[in-house]
Amino acid sequence: MATTTVTRPNTRGRGTERRRKPPALVEIYRSAVGKKYVMAITGIMLMGFVFAHMVGNLKMFLGPAQFDHYGHFLRELLVPILPRTVTLWLMRLGLIGAFALHIHAAYALTRMNHAARKVGYKSKRDYIAANYASRTMRWSGIIVGLFIVWHLFDLSWTGTGYHFYRGAAYHNVAASLHRPPVAALYIVANLALGLHLFHGAWSLFQSLGWSNPKFNRLRRNFAAGFATIIVVGNVSFPIAVLAGVVSN
Ligand code: HEM
Repeated sequence: MATTTVTRPNTRGRGTERRRKPPALVEIYRSAVGKKYVMAITGIMLMGFVFAHMVGNLKMFLGPAQFDHYGHFLRELLVPILPRTVTLWLMRLGLIGAFALHIHAAYALTRMNHAARKVGYKSKRDYIAANYASRTMRWSGIIVGLFIVWHLFDLSWTGTGYHFYRGAAYHNVAASLHRPPVAALYIVANLALGLHLFHGAWSLFQSLGWSNPKFNRLRRNFAAGFATIIVVGNVSFPIAVLAGVVSN
């Protein structure tokens, strides 16, 4: 890679210092537009995961053998081209990277917005609308983030106080969500996820610069439709367990 250097006055105002110019992608990411792009692109990746995860979980309704087989299938992806679980780990790393960038860009953009607001904002109406949306995104994002940590302990890592069996996903889901407070937690977290997805799927077009008012209706329908599909799918799992449709 070319190592361009820039010469600029040093911080003490005496003479100049030679500093390496950061790579182009880092330079782009430093701008608000770059961060919005990163939020949108990583948001699309996370939406893809959430959709695939929900569709995969529907296999629960086909019974334990089908559901657990699906879990094994994910671990065996691209075997024998790659060793077992390697593909899954590559996808996990992509997901972790997207998640980390999404959170960092959100945090950095909020700080930039606060700094800009001190200088002046267009109109009080815009301020209230933007502030409402960003506040909703913040608290729904925090609830979803905390839920994911709980969810990983609950169904992937250790279990949360029921008899957890590694690799027995159907058994674990039925045993965990059989507890009404846990089922309620899953439902509340998924409602927060729905709100987050609705705002996110709506604003990602704006972030990518596709904000022609002609498509506003299409954007709104897409955002509402996507969020509804995910919420209905995900909320059906705790309800199915409580209703005894999915049980051990
Ligand atoms: C009621 C809804 C949900 C159910 C029943 C469910 C079920 C599961 C199960 C059974 C696993 C463990 C798979 C295994 O280790 O064999 C899992 C893993 C996971 N879930 Fe969910 N899930 C739900 C909602 C969500 C949501 C809303 C998110 C994210 C926003 C999410 C993110 C994850 C992640 C990141 C993993 C780890 C994947 C991996 O290790 O490869 N889940 N889920």
